[in-house]
This record gives sequence, structure tokens and C-alpha cells, in this order.
Amino acid sequence: MNLSIFDYIIVGSGIAGLYAALLAREVGSVLLLTKGSIEECNTRYAQGGIAAAIGPDDSPALHAEDTLAAGAGLCDPEAVRILTEEGPDRIADLIRFGVPFDTLHGEVALTREAAHRLPRILHAGGDATGEHIELTLSGLARHRNITILEYSLATRLLGDARNVRGVEVLDCRTNQVTAFEGRAVILATGGCGRLYHISTNPEVATGDGVALAFRAGAEVMDMEFFQFHPTALRLPGVPPFLISEAVRGEGGILRNVAGRRFMFDYAPQGELAPRDVVARSIVAEMAKTGADHVLLDVSHLPATVVAARFPRIYGFCLEHGVDMTTTPIPVAPAAHYMMGGIRTNTWGETTLPGLYAAGECACTGVHGANRLASNSLLETLIFGKRIIQRTLEARDGATPRGAPPTPEAEALPARRGAGDAGVPTLPALQRLMWDQVGITRSGASLAEAAATLAAWEGTLPAPTDRASHELANLLLVARLTAEAALIREESRGAHYRTDFPEPNPAWLRHIVFCRYRD
Ligand code: FAD
Ligand code: SIN
Repeated sequence: MNLSIFDYIIVGSGIAGLYAALLAREVGSVLLLTKGSIEECNTRYAQGGIAAAIGPDDSPALHAEDTLAAGAGLCDPEAVRILTEEGPDRIADLIRFGVPFDTLHGEVALTREAAHRLPRILHAGGDATGEHIELTLSGLARHRNITILEYSLATRLLGDARNVRGVEVLDCRTNQVTAFEGRAVILATGGCGRLYHISTNPEVATGDGVALAFRAGAEVMDMEFFQFHPTALRLPGVPPFLISEAVRGEGGILRNVAGRRFMFDYAPQGELAPRDVVARSIVAEMAKTGADHVLLDVSHLPATVVAARFPRIYGFCLEHGVDMTTTPIPVAPAAHYMMGGIRTNTWGETTLPGLYAAGECACTGVHGANRLASNSLLETLIFGKRIIQRTLEARDGATPRGAPPTPEAEALPARRGAGDAGVPTLPALQRLMWDQVGITRSGASLAEAAATLAAWEGTLPAPTDRASHELANLLLVARLTAEAALIREESRGAHYRTDFPEPNPAWLRHIVFCRYRD
């Protein structure tokens, strides 16, 4: 093993990793690790945009109210205050870096998405927001003297519970292992959407950061809350391409396969009800009609406006035989976003000193039980910036302390495997999670899933390459998700239990797991 020392080791090259790397490089040496090419990440596929209270009738307080309402009682109000108050400044940072947000009559254009009370979402290239952000930030990172190692998979955190001091890395092309030492290690590894059979996420979203942090002894929180996006394209043989919520924000109507508008049967806000409500309503409507999809109709909107506002979606649908300006788009829900993750305080510090987490892999408390649309890109910037500030304070003498452990955190329950559960494969795992730990769950389905997952974990050989590491990480994250969902005997936000269909005020608290408990 070689050992090189950096001020910052940042794992992940989505918006969270790149933005943190650009700031960190202003104050120290930076190693940026990413397991694929630099552009492979969830960020690149973001469509709708990034939320911030910059409109004339808006304010951080209104943005905070909407965020708290979507979070169904489980947001951390202080984290939400920070997110919404610091949001406009972080957007200004992106503009300074060169992200070309769309404008209208010389002003930044704002669109509306579900559960936002007014238009608040900035976008770029119509529905290509993520691509513009990713290309702008990765282009800058390549020219800022940051050491960037692509195809480099972080496989283990080095150090101990008093100090995380580096990362073990597998070169995905040679399978050679190297160790790097860092004064601060920042996980920015994104989400775990590949847990599920139907997902909007690219292949890199395998929950690696959560698995690495958990194995090292960090606390993880809110794993039962996984968001399903209501509208992904549903066509035989075609990947579940996201059809942005902004399409409904601009007037898109949901109809069942008989052509009837149905959302007002389920929620007074209709198509702009919170995401979890729309996803479950679609599932109910599909069950009623016996179809595997519903229809998203924008044919009443001017064709030129639709094609100009949603060029990527329009182009993708057309390529697959659907002209959305004349024909309703077949859509169905798909796995989309991990609300839970590595527990951090409002400075991005985990419970392990020296270890920080930013972006989708972190659980900062801003999303609670259900993320408000387009708050995730913003969250990556807010807490990425605060991490760098915090590391500077630590360098100036303040003790790097890590977020205080949660008194009630539990060690992940040990569970006996379910007899002969067969060999774990990625498709089998994704099917099990979709069927048993999905949009709706029950105690019986969750208990069975948790037992199968435990049995699978027990049979897994030691990982040797990228695919086997990712499978091991997904299995662990799947079990954290199933166990937390089993413990939470109520329905709240994105977590819906058919055996406990109502929220229970006694459950206005978080489920926190850690591997070790003294
Ligand atoms: P990512 O962008 O996913 O980056 C993670 C990085 O970590 C990748 O580079 C990956 O290769 C790397 N990595 C992972 N594990 C390892 C490892 N072990 N070793 C080395 N590298 C590793 N949010 C919004 O706010 N607005 C939107 O409009 C929006 N639209 C979306 C549309 C789609 C289709 C999807 C999938 C998500 C959308 N989201 C949106 C969510 C948002 O895009 C993500 O939450 C956000 O981009 C996450 O950024 P990140 O930097 O944390 O992770
Ligand atoms: C979308 O464009 O619908 C995705 C927005 C998000 O996930 O925040």
C-alpha cells in the first residue's frame, strides 16, 4: 500500500463533491476520488432545477414553511432555516462559477414544482439543469490543481472512532488497492436508487458512502424514508427516464388510462400535491384500472412552449415514439431519492471526528420524512460550504469534534437469515426491495425482506472488484432501510405502512442506527 497525504479527501464527483472540492482547493490540497468517469452521478440527470427564495414575492421563511410541511414533522427546523436563508448566496456562487441559469426578460426564470407555494425553481437549458451544473463544475475542477482520480472506488475508511484519517481505494481498472491519508475526509457519494428494480438513478447510485460510514461506526438516520418520484416514463424495454415534476408545474395533467383526470379524487392540490401523495395516488389508480401506467398530458399547452421548455424530455420521448405535444406520456412511479443517510450536524460533521458528509449521502435533517422537490441540489451547496468553513475553524484551533452521538441510537438489530434464501444477485435484491420495501410496505413484507437480506449478507463472499463491493454496499443499505421501516409502526411522508396507515404523534422522532454501541 502507498500512502499520500492531502488536506482534503473528497469522495464523489457530483455537485456535492465538486463544489466542496472547488472551495477546499482555495485553502488546501485536495484529492477527489470518483468511481466512474467524473460526470457519472445523479447530479448530471437533474431536470427540474434548484430551489431558492429569490423571487420578488418569496422569502426564506416561506421556503422554510414549505420545506417543513413536506417533511411531515421530521425536519430539523434549524437545518431548514440555514438551508433557506443561505440558499440565495449559494445560488450566487453557482452563477459566479458560470452555471447558465435560464432567464426571462433579463431575470432568472423561476418555475413551480409540487408542494412549493409559488414559482421558486431555477433551471438551466430548460430541463438540463443537472448537466449544466455538472459540466460547469467539473470543467472548473479540472483546471484548479485538484488531484482527480477517476475509476477509483473508495472501499474502506481508515482510522478509528476517534479520528478518521484516510480512505482505502480500489482502482476499478486494475483492481489494485491504494491508501490515501487526509486531514478531513468528505463523503459525497450520492444516493442508493439502484436498490430498486425501477429507478431514475444511474448505476453509480449504490449507497457506498452510507455503507462505508456505517461500517466505520458512524451513525445513520432516517433510512426508512425513501422517495419515489411519481412520473417516470413507462414504455416496454425503455429505461424509466424521469419526466420532471416541472411538467406538472407548468400545467401537465395526470389522467388514468381511460383518459379521466384523477388527482383531485385524492388530494385538494391535484397534480401539485406532495410527491409521496401523487406517487401513491398513481399506484391506486393503476390498480383500479389494471394498467401499469397512467398518462401525463400536456397536449393542451402550446407545442412550441413544451418543446422549448423541456427539450430533453421532449427529445427522449420522441425518440421512443411519443410526441408529448400531441400524445399523453405513459408514466409510473420510480425510486428516486434517499432522504436518510449518514447523520450530520449543521456543519456536515458526522459522529466520527475527521469524517464529513455532504449531498445525498448525508442526513442533515432538512428533508425529514419527505424531500421538497429541488431542495436536494441546494442542500449539497449549503452544507458543502459549511464543511469547508468548519474544517478551517478546526485548523485554527477549534477541536474537530464530530456531531455528538444520539443517546438513543441503536446498534442495527441482528437478524437470523431466512433459511435457504438463495444467492444474492443485484436483480434479485432490486426486485425484493421493489416488492417488499417499496412505495407501500407492511410489517409482514418488511420482516420477510429483512430476514432474506440478513441471509444474503451472510452468504456474500469478500468483495474483490467494483461490482462485488457495490453489491455488498447495497445489501447493507437495503437491510438498514428494511429494518428502520419495520421499526417505524406508522405512516409518515414517504414511509407508508398498510398495517399502520396513519401518522402517530408518538413517532415524531428519528430512527438512528450505528454499528457499535459502548
Ligand atoms: P451524485 O451527483 O450522485 O454524485 C455521487 C458521486 O459519488 C458520483 O460521482 C459517484 O460516482 C461517486 N461515488 C459513489 N460511491 C463512490 C465510491 N465508493 N468511491 C468513489 N466514488 C463514489 N434534485 C434537485 O434538487 N432538483 C432536481 O431537479 C433533481 N432532479 C433529479 C433527476 C434525476 C433523474 C435524479 C436521479 C435525481 C434528481 N435530483 C434532483 C436529485 C439530485 O440530483 C441529487 O440528490 C444530487 O444530484 C446528489 O448530488 P451528490 O453530489 O450528493 O451525488
Ligand atoms: C424533477 O425534475 O421532477 C426532479 C426534481 C427533484 O427530484 O427534486
